[in-house]
Amino acid sequence: PAPGWAIDADVVVVGSGVAGLTAALRCAAAGLDTVVVTKARLDDGSTRWAQGGIAAALGEGDTPEQHLDDTLVAGAGLCDEEAVRTLVTEGPDAVRRLITTGAHFDTTDSGDIALTREGGHHRRRIAHAGGDATGAEISRALVEAVREAALHTIENALVLDLLTDAEGRTAGVSLHVMGEGQHDGVGAVRAPSVVLATGGMGQVFSATTNPSVSTGDGVALALRAGAEVSDLEFVQFHPTVLFLGADSEGQQPLVSEAVRGEGAHLVDADGVRFMLGQHELAELAPRDIVAKGITRRMHEKGTEHMYLDARHFGAAMWEQRFPTILAACRSHGIDPVTEPIPVAPAAHYASGGVRTDLRGRTTVPGLYACGEVACTGVHGANRLASNSLLEGLVFAERIAADIAEVRPPRTEPAEASRDADDLAPLLAPEARTTIQRTMTRGAGVLRSADSLATAAEALEALHREAAADAEADGAKAVVPGVDAWEVTNLLLVSRVLVAAARDREETRGCHWREDRPDRDDAHGRRHLVVRVGPDRT
Ligand code: SIN
Repeated sequence: PAPGWAIDADVVVVGSGVAGLTAALRCAAAGLDTVVVTKARLDDGSTRWAQGGIAAALGEGDTPEQHLDDTLVAGAGLCDEEAVRTLVTEGPDAVRRLITTGAHFDTTDSGDIALTREGGHHRRRIAHAGGDATGAEISRALVEAVREAALHTIENALVLDLLTDAEGRTAGVSLHVMGEGQHDGVGAVRAPSVVLATGGMGQVFSATTNPSVSTGDGVALALRAGAEVSDLEFVQFHPTVLFLGADSEGQQPLVSEAVRGEGAHLVDADGVRFMLGQHELAELAPRDIVAKGITRRMHEKGTEHMYLDARHFGAAMWEQRFPTILAACRSHGIDPVTEPIPVAPAAHYASGGVRTDLRGRTTVPGLYACGEVACTGVHGANRLASNSLLEGLVFAERIAADIAEVRPPRTEPAEASRDADDLAPLLAPEARTTIQRTMTRGAGVLRSADSLATAAEALEALHREAAADAEADGAKAVVPGVDAWEVTNLLLVSRVLVAAARDREETRGCHWREDRPDRDDAHGRRHLVVRVGPDRT
């Protein structure tokens, strides 16, 4: 739809998690006129839900090189080593700057930052806040800093499409805004630099740790704009999500890896520690291995979940170290102090996303991406635990530095083409559950050629129906609105994800093909890069 209002800026940042707010604060500090737009409130989104913490080589005896080694092992041969080196070497100072911005991390009795362990880390290197409420603290500090800096923010603003000028350069974004006074309805922020920091796409699946806003909007926008997207098949399933029943859908409570980092055991219904003997790190193996170990055991035993046993922590440790998880469990009638916690894997993190270089530039001039929406190359086939908040920080700072250096001139958006509508015709909101169930069944933790083919067929049918409805005038046309745009985005990213998962005919990292159980280094050591929108090269 044509924008009904427009404002101008140097930079528009889309999203308000650790990546978006860091980019916005740094851009503003560099004197750039910066606008932040976000789909719900500033502190909604995934950052707030992060529990375990933020990984960085801050501890005595730890080094960026060791952090690099652990990250490369978890990434199963597909990390971009230069990107990882950038992450781990710039990470510690980026965390210190976050502390200067106002985030308070837990400390030891001697005043050092307290560090825990998580899967795949050979050392204690995870900084945390409020015990298990690290993301909430980071979000609080950044939102406060944004308010103090009086940044222009627009909340309740769903981003629709990238605007480009006559040369195909970025010229801003169109938005649908609800209830924000003068900027209501469909409008535009015109700016020569757009930073996508829209987070993940966990809502593609039925059960996820992601909040309801994580609908892949940034990846969908980038696809429609002709940007390259990579590694979408690598969806990370968190091994230990509180099991609330096989038909429980939507956001599910996370039970942080840090609980295992502090010594909790994974057991089956008979109390057997089934991860022993599967990996030298047992329960603290990289996340994909633990998720597979749990799923395999569930199949062997014919059960819907396993258990995480941390009764030996005792009440005091539970209350002090993991208050958020303790409260979540108790609110669902489970007391981890006296009983093992039922857990099962659920969709957690998109290791792939919009492809960027080390400055956060995508393949569309003027369009940047950072945080979960981006594929910087640091995660490869499987993200190492707690590297995501760090990635958001480090690459957001790099993007701000790049924009501040380039300072591109403002240009006029050109007339929008209809191609984007053909690529992703508006879908009725009711399709949301169908997409999620289709994806969970066909492209979930365990995939096969058959399951993926069935999923692809169902998704293509939805696409064809939407295209036919868009052609038909009147009664069948879908009414534009946030729900319809979200579900349209879910379908587009699901179709691309399934296509990538079918192409990757091997098991690697968090992509697990039942019919191709081995890693195939002869053919699989490559990134599956997709571009479906206009060619910008
Ligand atoms: C967790 O606390 O287990 C989540 C950490 C992460 O996803 O990096």
